[in-house]
Amino acid sequence: MSELRFDNQTVVVTGAGGGLGKAYALFFASRGANVVVNDLGVSHSGEGKSGKAADVVVEEIRAAGGKAVANYDSVENGEAIIETAIKAFGRIDILLNNAGILRDISFKNMKDSDWDLINTVHTYGAYKCARAAWPHFRKQKYGRVINTASAAGLFGSFGQANYSAAKLGQVGFTETLAKEGAKYNIIANVIAPIAASRMTATVMPPDVLENLKPDWVVPLVATLVHSSNTTETGGIYEVGGGHVAKLRWERAKGALLKTDDSLTPGAIARKWSDVNDFSKPEYPTGPADFMAFLEDGVKMPSAQPGAEPDFKGRVALV
Ligand code: NAI
Repeated sequence: MSELRFDNQTVVVTGAGGGLGKAYALFFASRGANVVVNDLGVSHSGEGKSGKAADVVVEEIRAAGGKAVANYDSVENGEAIIETAIKAFGRIDILLNNAGILRDISFKNMKDSDWDLINTVHTYGAYKCARAAWPHFRKQKYGRVINTASAAGLFGSFGQANYSAAKLGQVGFTETLAKEGAKYNIIANVIAPIAASRMTATVMPPDVLENLKPDWVVPLVATLVHSSNTTETGGIYEVGGGHVAKLRWERAKGALLKTDDSLTPGAIARKWSDVNDFSKPEYPTGPADFMAFLEDGVKMPSAQPGAEPDFKGRVALV
């Protein structure tokens, strides 16, 4: 069986100085890719700054015969990171938005600085890197993106209101990139990984961490960003400890109420079991799906066959 190769492709991995990012960087380099090893070299809560983390990984890749360059910018400076790829290798094919930090604290005690820093690194950082890569992807009609969510974002997690908000944001962000990128062969997926790293070292016992190797997250990411994947986009995947599963939104049967004076809180209360009836779920994939339930005449134009988004911030009336 031949192995999945990435020869002549350039991969940018943010936060590649340790943990999952390092595992991605080493793997893609070993499979022929040029790798930009980005890392700001901060503590797990975002303090300090050092080029050492990225340098060590670049040296390891080069020592093994691979091609890599370091970049020490914060993901907030996405243009500079993508520019490093263009300068060193002349192209960017794959972006792995992976860099991250934690500022865990109960919501009662959360400060604006805890909220802002987490959203700056995870939300704004992923946006800036993808935004800088986007024109290259569109021009070459090829691009692959992985964004990194978390179970904390999907389900909530005590002490992580800031991180949860930022991580679920990666899901909506990815789903939109997948829709806007489809025409240009730009594929975007989001993962909620679990792996032993300094991020989890303080919250999980050693024997559990032993069974959560970062290397075990890599094969899913490699599969999703390979050129052979032309269909799996906008997906949410849980991955860790050898387990890989796709997640999706589920809609209950719901209640369709008359839109007249009878639409009262009491009318909803009487239909509460239908609102919560998941016995025959639907799996919506776009905002317009919801409109399909409504009466003719209140349907959004995009719910009609043949409607096309015009990418100018509104849905074209066709
Ligand atoms: P890690 O702490 O081992 O690695 C993160 C790297 O990102 C560090 O090397 C750090 O210096 C770098 N970094 C932080 N802020 C940066 C910035 N502004 N610009 C550039 N680099 C920056 O963490 P780990 O566990 O490898 O996490 C990777 C990603 O996976 C993160 O986005 C994290 O939130 C996410 N994640 C990890 C889970 C796990 O179980 N390890 C669980 C769920 C999500």
